[in-house]
Amino acid sequence: MLRIGILTSGGDCQALNAAMRGVIRGLSSQRDDLEIYGFEDGYKGLIYGNYHLMTPDDFSGILNMGGTILGTSRQPFKRMRIPDENGLDKVEAMKSVYHKLQLECLVILGGNGTHKTANLLREEGLNVVTLPKTIDNDLWGTDMTFGFQSAVDIATETIDRIHTTASSHSRVFIIEVMGHKVGHVTLHAGIAGGADIILLPEIPYDIDVIADVINKRSAAGKKFTILAVAEGAISKADASLKKKEYKAKLANSPYPSIAYQLADEISQKTEKEIRIAVPGHTQRGGAPCAYDRMIASRVGAAAAKLILNKEYGYMVALIDGETKKIPLEEIAGKLKYVNPDCKMIQEAKLMGISFGD
Ligand code: F6P
Repeated sequence: MLRIGILTSGGDCQALNAAMRGVIRGLSSQRDDLEIYGFEDGYKGLIYGNYHLMTPDDFSGILNMGGTILGTSRQPFKRMRIPDENGLDKVEAMKSVYHKLQLECLVILGGNGTHKTANLLREEGLNVVTLPKTIDNDLWGTDMTFGFQSAVDIATETIDRIHTTASSHSRVFIIEVMGHKVGHVTLHAGIAGGADIILLPEIPYDIDVIADVINKRSAAGKKFTILAVAEGAISKADASLKKKEYKAKLANSPYPSIAYQLADEISQKTEKEIRIAVPGHTQRGGAPCAYDRMIASRVGAAAAKLILNKEYGYMVALIDGETKKIPLEEIAGKLKYVNPDCKMIQEAKLMGISFGD
């Protein structure tokens, strides 16, 4: 009997279902003694023993389905060692459910926080294989996460749509793109959507540079300016603050997000009419694009191979187009930032895109 547990944790993204389908198809094509326990709403299901027995058929017909058939939730790593409101030791609870069900291994799909907990479970002696999901593409150790390309496509479409209305009304538009602390989605969508200014957390901006770009575009007869702005974008002044000071400043900020702060700052330095568009969670919603379905299926099948070989403690990564196993201890807790000196940024700058620096 091959008994596996499977869960999806953290913010959802496109192609989670495709990835699970890849794992289960990979296993069920080789083994007819598969027993699958699907844990509900991420680690919460593992902690509280909320699971249901599933069959390979449950993973059929879900390749192009958004969201996750298992549900998900955020269970912060930093609180994993803190007992819950009833005094339950969450780590011990997860181990106990795992052992009670006599699982051979856990398949865990998630992003950064999820990987920290997966590594903790590995340290606690559980067999774990993980898959890299997140629209942010900020997971260390893999070139690509599934969900990223779909989010880029959606953000790009938003920028495309904003172009026509910005042009009609001669406006400055700020499109705020998700991505948490990193700028991968914004960088890709900004280039693909033809943004005039791209602001990333990794390249702090100078508002005078931004105003100058907008004013120069106006003077050159360009009626509008499009800014693709990462939700984590930061000014040079704020970047020079200590982490604690910046956190406090954010907590007391009158602005709901960076786009609103920028709009205010730009309005003080230009005559232009400014509007904001925040695609928000639409970037995580709906069907996965073909590329995400393909890479999710591949990493899913590669995870199945690891399980069949009884190789545990790895994340399946995509590196230079190939699936590779990466030890969890090498990646847990590390973020993959945009390299401000990368060729992509150099090429964007050569095309006249400003990064506000
Ligand atoms: O990590 C994925 C992500 O969509 C980030 O881009 C964003 O900052 C965050 O999740 C939003 O989280 P929530 O879904 O909890 O609002």
